[in-house]
Amino acid sequence: MTAEYKVHGDVAVITMNNPPVNGLGYATRVGITDGLSKAIADPAVKSIVITGAGKAFSGGADIKEFGSPKATAEPNLLSVILALEASPKPIVAAMHSVAMGGGLELALGCHYRIAAPGTNIALPEVKLGLIPGAGGTMRLPRVLGVETALNMIVSGEPVKSELLAQQPGQKLFDKMASSPEALAEEALAYARSVADARPLPLVRNLPSSHPLGDAYFQFARNMVKGMSKNFPAPEKCVDAVEASTQKKFDDGMAYEREIFTALMFTPESRALRHLFVAERAASKIPDVPEDTPQREIKTVAVIGAGTMGGGIAMNFLNAGIPVKMLEMKQEALDRGLATIRKNYESQLKKGKLKQDKYDQRMALLTTTLDYNDLKDADLVIEAVFEEMGVKQKVFEKLDEVMKPGAILASNTSTLDVDKIASFTKRPQDVVGLHFFSPANVMRLLEVVRGAKTGKDVMATVMSVAKKIKKTAVVSGVCDGFIGNRMIEQYSRQAGFLLDEGATPQQVDRAIEKFGFAMGPFRMGDLAGNDIGWAIRKRRALERPNMLYSRTADKLCELGRFGQKTGAGWYDYQAGKRDAIPSELVNKMIEDHRKELGITPRKISDEEIVQRLVFSLVNEGAHIVEDGIASRASDIDMVYLTGYGFPMHRGGPMLYADQVGLFNVVQAMKRFQQNPRDDASFWEPAPLLARLAAEGKSFS
Ligand code: NAI
Repeated sequence: MTAEYKVHGDVAVITMNNPPVNGLGYATRVGITDGLSKAIADPAVKSIVITGAGKAFSGGADIKEFGSPKATAEPNLLSVILALEASPKPIVAAMHSVAMGGGLELALGCHYRIAAPGTNIALPEVKLGLIPGAGGTMRLPRVLGVETALNMIVSGEPVKSELLAQQPGQKLFDKMASSPEALAEEALAYARSVADARPLPLVRNLPSSHPLGDAYFQFARNMVKGMSKNFPAPEKCVDAVEASTQKKFDDGMAYEREIFTALMFTPESRALRHLFVAERAASKIPDVPEDTPQREIKTVAVIGAGTMGGGIAMNFLNAGIPVKMLEMKQEALDRGLATIRKNYESQLKKGKLKQDKYDQRMALLTTTLDYNDLKDADLVIEAVFEEMGVKQKVFEKLDEVMKPGAILASNTSTLDVDKIASFTKRPQDVVGLHFFSPANVMRLLEVVRGAKTGKDVMATVMSVAKKIKKTAVVSGVCDGFIGNRMIEQYSRQAGFLLDEGATPQQVDRAIEKFGFAMGPFRMGDLAGNDIGWAIRKRRALERPNMLYSRTADKLCELGRFGQKTGAGWYDYQAGKRDAIPSELVNKMIEDHRKELGITPRKISDEEIVQRLVFSLVNEGAHIVEDGIASRASDIDMVYLTGYGFPMHRGGPMLYADQVGLFNVVQAMKRFQQNPRDDASFWEPAPLLARLAAEGKSFS
């Protein structure tokens, strides 16, 4: 049982106790109703307090039960709340720390509520593509008014209890505790003070209305529509709250339930729930237990103050961790420092950063040309040129100067981390930390685990990642790690599509309509087409037989590197970023087709999307099978946080699951018939073929 029952004189106290946030799982619900029965049966008990142990009142549904029959097993949350409402003895919810989702709905079913200052109050269901499902949309408007309640329900964001308590006419809290420490005592006293109050007040009996009526809800719908592209839940929040003003309470409850259940089955909600679970899963490494000892990271050194080094340094400064940056020449240091300043100053101008914070951050940053100044750093991250020879010199030097136990990390995007580790006598301390550009903005961090990387090093960098607010995903060592290894196949497909008859703008439009932030060709123009060109040249030596479209090389031979040269796959006007279709490029692509003897055909948007996305899926399946990623959902995290994959689709692997793996394999077989395409490209990865044949999914 995960709720405790104690009697203090004439007050019974039911304490939910299901760490970490007193999730309302089956055992907790049973604990509450059992406690309630005891309290009602005990003639000595005159009133009841419900509260939460530890760090929360209650965070709502128990994520461990997500999607399992236990989540809805009786007593379900609705039944628990009905039982509270029906209690003949007054019940006081004593709220502190966190009262969210089902936890808040539970409190709203109590007769009275007392809250500690600092309690985070929220109905965050919308973030999982849902609406509150246990009366939240019916009861919150009744205690806070329609507008405040709808704002909270549509945003899902927490609001502090003391702010809500100041709202005129609010009925959410009957009393505020003087401090979190005093809550328990003051709740007991309050329960005693209402012991004889009759009839017992119920939120359901309060009115819900808005003075502007329909006009307000029309306005709310317009606002929400703009914000909630691709997601149905926010508009449904408006529908439900509107129903609270129009329907009888119980009819409103039924309506809320109907919407909730329908949303549960939408692909968008499935995607968001997948993301929620995947994010937590990604932080766990199967053979590195949570109690693995960690090294202390108090100071950080960054080698190289270029594009990546500067951004990486900012992450740590933002988190209050001192950084020392090293370069070969003073000019390079000055340039790097100036870029960091410029970044912060633009945040300052936009009002996103306060002057004192800016000063604090800059004060944490020091620079040097001398490796000896780094020797005491706990973590050093190398971000020098992408050449093995350069990395070798740096790591040999680090091995020489750094204190024992320092973690030596490389930001390499393509080089072999095991080889880099071999330049030191302490390969157990070496790890890849692959940031994405711009490193101070992008959430993704690929943590590349070398063959000899220590478990304590893995545990440490995973928690460092959390401190600097990154989503860390562990990758094994391979060319391109998870993200770039997959994007290579995606880019190859994009090239084949041009050879067969598509234009860059058609490909970009199709995949952007699918939801990608940017199609492959606009993306190439932004990042610089020369980067891929250099990689292809190197690959041509390593894998001479790999077939790919030559169009991208031809583009680079024309000097069209993208926005930075004013022309790429598209034309650009000076100072503007709008991509204008280029006649010259389209002619170049046509000429290339002629050289290849290909008669262009009309390619549907559907085929474009499938070929691009399924190329990711197939390589993703190889990556899971090779053990480079621990689980398919890690791949989804990489694509959602680092590559602009549409959030509402839940990542390439979940998307494939939703399409059905059988259908994915069938489509791949069709693509194998294409004339220009590399037939071996579409050979389903063994894992994909097996799961499809068995009718299973990645998740
Ligand atoms: P960059 O060329 O902007 O910066 C490299 C900096 O390292 C330069 O300032 C250079 O002076 C300095 N440097 C070179 N050799 C050095 C040495 N021996 N000691 C000290 N400093 C030295 O390059 P960028 O783009 O910052 O890339 C750095 C690393 O990050 C590379 O390994 C790259 O593959 C990786 N990376 C780059 C990404 C990007 O989008 N630019 C994304 C992810 C990783």
